[in-house]
Amino acid sequence: MNFDALIDRRNTDCIKWDGLKEAYGRDDILPLWIADMDFVSSPKIIEAMIGRANHGVFGYPLASAKIFEPFIEWNKRRNNLNIDQEWILTCPGVVTAFTLGIHAYTKEGDKVMIQTPVYPPFHSSVKNNNRIMIENELIEKEGYYTIDFEDFEKKIRENNIKLFILCNPHNPVGRVWRKEELEKMAEICLKYDVKIFSDEIHSDLILKGYKFNSILSLDEKYKKIIIAATAPSKTFNIAGLTSSMVLIPDEDMREVYSKVSQSLSIGLLNIFGLTAIEAAYKHGEEWLEEVMSYIEDNFDYMISFIKENMPNVKCRKPEATYLGWLDFRKIFTKQDELDDFLINRAKVALNSGITFGKKGEGFVRINLGCPRTILEEALKRIKNAL
Ligand SMILES: Cc1ncc(COP(=O)(O)O)c(C=O)c1O
Repeated sequence: MNFDALIDRRNTDCIKWDGLKEAYGRDDILPLWIADMDFVSSPKIIEAMIGRANHGVFGYPLASAKIFEPFIEWNKRRNNLNIDQEWILTCPGVVTAFTLGIHAYTKEGDKVMIQTPVYPPFHSSVKNNNRIMIENELIEKEGYYTIDFEDFEKKIRENNIKLFILCNPHNPVGRVWRKEELEKMAEICLKYDVKIFSDEIHSDLILKGYKFNSILSLDEKYKKIIIAATAPSKTFNIAGLTSSMVLIPDEDMREVYSKVSQSLSIGLLNIFGLTAIEAAYKHGEEWLEEVMSYIEDNFDYMISFIKENMPNVKCRKPEATYLGWLDFRKIFTKQDELDDFLINRAKVALNSGITFGKKGEGFVRINLGCPRTILEEALKRIKNAL
């Protein structure tokens, strides 16, 4: 694969490039924001989809065992994770999946906990559905984030939390939660009868030296409080196909979730999404390895560029994802000044840190799923503007 190739995504109905004006007020800026990649997906997925398109009949799809076998096999091989076919439910997106989780396991006025700074729909999904959001803020030390377990338990105990939405790997701080960390959280949740929704959409985007642990890989005893969601969308750059999977080992939990999903008539995937799921997990591994190696190099490039040219900006290489988390607090204390600087002076579109939570103030998220030249240009613009 040639990930250096510059692909013109303008006028392709894509938010990242065509949605700049609406999101940033101008469209003459370089987009490294929303989390999709400027790369062509795996040729094997494209081939499978062309084959499907050539069939010419696009009637109601059946998400049969054949579609999910490669996904189950993939998880066994790569993550040492045994998934039972009957745990799998389908859902258009992972955001929809955790929103349904909120509906299934909580009622209006209930409290839902998240760990901030975190992906903005974690916040909005709780608030928009009239639940109360409780934050367990992560602890930051020189760009490395850990869990404040004391606060974690205190918030659960004092607030009668019903549901905890976990982000693993964590967007935007890039942590892959260790097994011991997951166990500690699960143990507290079990103690207080809190359900855990684990968003594992970034689980296949692991950087060198790290290993993904699914919440589902923990001891059997936790399975009665656990629900996880994942998708090939981030992994293979096919988010526009809106096809995700929800994994619920416990039968009763699955039934409750299914009822909510059915009551809202959500769950049927589109035929191209199903084709892509099957092809991705069957034939996409080589592409994924290549893309991760390219992303790894992008991180190394960015970190040494920043060190050399903008020593007051801090950035730590993440353990997973193609998302960097840049700390501008030494230069800008107010987020609106930082955002204004980046949009109107540097002319780059990045995700404003404050949208991830209060502790995100002074940060921005940068998307490294792009050709090196785009990254170079963005960093050069920031450096020159500074
Ligand atoms: C943690 C996390 N969850 C969910 C999503 C989006 O999932 P979907 O497009 O399947 O709704 C993203 C996208 O960036 C994400 O980072």
